Amino acid sequence: MGIINGKHILLGVTGSIAAFKAADLASKLTQLGAQMDVILTPAAEKFITPLTMQSVTGRKAYTESDLWSGEAHVLHIGLGKSADLLVIAPCTANTISKLAHGAADNLLTITALAAQSPLIIAPAMDGGMFDHPATQENLAKLKERGAYVAGPTQGHLASGLSGAGRLLEVADLIGHIRFVLGRRGRLAAKKVLITAGGTQEPLDPVRVLTNKSSGRQGYALAQSAIEAGAEVTLITTPTSLTLPIGARVINVQTAQQMLEAVLKECAQADALIMAAAVADFRPKQAARNKLKKQDGIPQIELEATEDILEAVSAQKSRKLALSTVEAKRPRITVGFAAESRDLLENASEKLRSKHLDFIAANDISAQDAGFNVETNRVTLLFADGKKESLPLMNKTEVAEAILEHVAALLE
Ligand code: CTP
Repeated sequence: MGIINGKHILLGVTGSIAAFKAADLASKLTQLGAQMDVILTPAAEKFITPLTMQSVTGRKAYTESDLWSGEAHVLHIGLGKSADLLVIAPCTANTISKLAHGAADNLLTITALAAQSPLIIAPAMDGGMFDHPATQENLAKLKERGAYVAGPTQGHLASGLSGAGRLLEVADLIGHIRFVLGRRGRLAAKKVLITAGGTQEPLDPVRVLTNKSSGRQGYALAQSAIEAGAEVTLITTPTSLTLPIGARVINVQTAQQMLEAVLKECAQADALIMAAAVADFRPKQAARNKLKKQDGIPQIELEATEDILEAVSAQKSRKLALSTVEAKRPRITVGFAAESRDLLENASEKLRSKHLDFIAANDISAQDAGFNVETNRVTLLFADGKKESLPLMNKTEVAEAILEHVAALLE
């Protein structure tokens, strides 16, 4: 599950104060199912020991002494050839300079020169060093050759200074790793538009009408689409979730804002997946000032919102009449049906009336499925009458299953 599982990742660690964070990174990647080989440079060994890395990965960690041991005269070739990815985190200005110039003076730089896999560089250095023209030129050269540079971020630096030079947080590094590993996936070069979260309709400046959607299913879809190589645009309402790295994000609050964003974006999309729980009704008039208790219980008049999927389908048919080229996008439209009764009947009706390619029908009356829980049990209903009942799955697995169908339909 997830793109990291089963991958062979080579982690190079260089001599930065942030080297201790590499242990957490190696540990998390191991827990996600990666086979980790770690190489410590001589300077890294001053900050962290091979034993630490071995303890978290369960595998030997390589150091400079391995370069000179008998069995290992082709160690660098072996390590570099078999890896799916080489990540150097933290990567010092010195190692960046060596990589840019093709130096091969330690086990890590030799391995980097021999490696055929994608390379992620996560710089970490003190204030001023990152901004120095020498470092910037070296990074530009590496990017030109296809290296992917993740970070650094702004913040507190070990010297007490503040500025650009901090190693990215481990969760962010993992997001970049997922993105890079996914680049050649089944949805490579495909544009996927995903909506997520529950819309919020203002009653007054502090109150909204909303629903229980957490946004988790939509975010899982965005993450899985990135891992399948898609160019993802995520239109999201406010949620407490971490944004997937690699997605273009458009923040909206109301159903009307989501409608406008979807109509604008879907002109460029190959597929639209509407996972958001969109309000069907909104207060006809939001009060300009906060509603006060002493004014009594307000009578709230509601009005209907526009159905986004229906608007997309109307636009699609309008475009069909105008031009066959424009009409191609979005080629695939997927919806969700949140139902508390007559699940399949209601979902088939939505599949038909919203002109979808398929719909994920979701029984929200179940304790373990639907809104605000980690798992989902969905049945996929297709326009051609096919039906696929998925077992109880976590939302990532549901997302992967849906995207497999999207990819198949796009092929
Ligand atoms: N949807 C939409 N625009 C709306 C409401 C819903 O595009 N104004 C989309 C949802 O994102 C979902 C699908 O339509 O993909 C079905 O949403 P759901 O809430 O289950 O159904 P509704 O069409 O709103 O009908 P009802 O609430 O009456 O069941």
